[in-house]
Parts: sequence; structure tokens; C-alpha cells
Amino acid sequence: MDAPFRGGNGVPAITPPDAHAPRVLPAVPAPEDLRALRSALGAFATGVTVITAFEDRLPVGITVNSFASVSLDPPLVLWSVANTATCAEVFRVGTAFCVHVLAAGQDGLAMNFARSGGDKFGGLSWEHGDWGAPLLPGCTAEFHCEVDARYPGGDHTIILGKVLAHVVRETPPLLFHRGHFREF
Ligand SMILES: Cc1cc2nc3c(=O)[nH]c(=O)nc-3n(C[C@H](O)[C@H](O)[C@H](O)COP(=O)(O)O)c2cc1C
Repeated sequence: MDAPFRGGNGVPAITPPDAHAPRVLPAVPAPEDLRALRSALGAFATGVTVITAFEDRLPVGITVNSFASVSLDPPLVLWSVANTATCAEVFRVGTAFCVHVLAAGQDGLAMNFARSGGDKFGGLSWEHGDWGAPLLPGCTAEFHCEVDARYPGGDHTIILGKVLAHVVRETPPLLFHRGHFREF
């Protein structure tokens, strides 16, 4: 058996904290609990998307990694939007939107659309697209959707989208893990 951990100068033995012990969330989590949860969730590696739509004919977009497939038949996808995001109310039932799955090297585009509010399309080349949502070039896949339903999800709203059309290319994807953009 290992000798008990001892501090210097005869300080009594201390049990070192076990970094791998379950961290139980209290009913009312403190900010440090939420930071630890966010950090643990960052262990889940994801792709990165930019989701676009029109609001009063102006293009809006947001960087999102909560995107996931839901159903093939009918074809459904989901993502969640923070209720504090300026674009949260744009995605009403029936609204057209485009999920751009970003390609390796598009981390600058991801950061551009991770800014809150303002004109995120200035200086970018984009098109109106054929499916009712702004289209950004160079991504590895596009899912052209319309909002099928919205569900409350705590401090986020879950957007369920019906896929109307999709495009896929051979370019490798951009990844996100533990707060950093990565590539294969
Ligand atoms: C990699 C990455 C993934 C993100 N995923 C989401 C997400 O799934 N949902 C969300 O609401 N915000 C997400 N964000 C944060 C938004 O992009 C950010 O809050 C943005 O400023 C919101 O824009 P808006 O306030 O103009 O609507 C993500 C940011 C990054 C960098």
C-alpha cells in the first residue's frame, strides 16, 4: 500500500483530491460547477457549422456545434440556440435555414459567426441560394432546411429542422474539441 500523502514540516496527512471522481451537481449550481460542466462537455468532439437564415431580407448567421441528425424518414435534424443569442427568434416555425458544415481551414469563418450581432456578412462572398437561406461557399456539406418545431431546453431552445435538400463534398471537416478548432 502507498505511504499516506504528507505535507512538509510534519503537516498532517492530506487526501489529495481525485480528479476523476464524479463531480455531483448541486440543485443550485455555483458558477464554478457550471464552468466544470462546460469543460467536461468540451470532451465531446464535434464538427462545426454555421447556420444562416434571412430576417427581414437581411442575412443572419450563427456558429453552432450542437447540430445533430435525428431522423431519416422523415428527414429531421436538430440544433439548439441560446435564448440570449440575438438571432434566437429568427428561427420560427416555417423559417428556411441552411446548415453549413465547415471544412478544415474555415475556423476564421467560425469565429466570424461566433460574434454576437452586427453585420457578419460584410466582406464575405455569399449568395441568396435556391432554398430561402443565405449560402456561404467552401463548406463540406449543406443541409437546406425549414424549422419544423421549437422545444424549450433550459437556457437554450431546441430547433427541429426538416431537411429539404443537401449537398456533400469531399473536403475534410473542421473539428472542435476542448475549446479548440482541430483538423484530422
Ligand atoms: C465552436 C462553437 C460552437 C458554438 N455552438 C453554439 C450552439 O450550438 N448554440 C448556440 O446558441 N451558440 C453556439 N455558439 C456561440 C454562438 O456562436 C455565439 O454566441 C454567437 O455570438 C451568437 O450570435 P448572435 O448573438 O448574433 O445570434 C458556438 C460558438 C462556437 C465558437
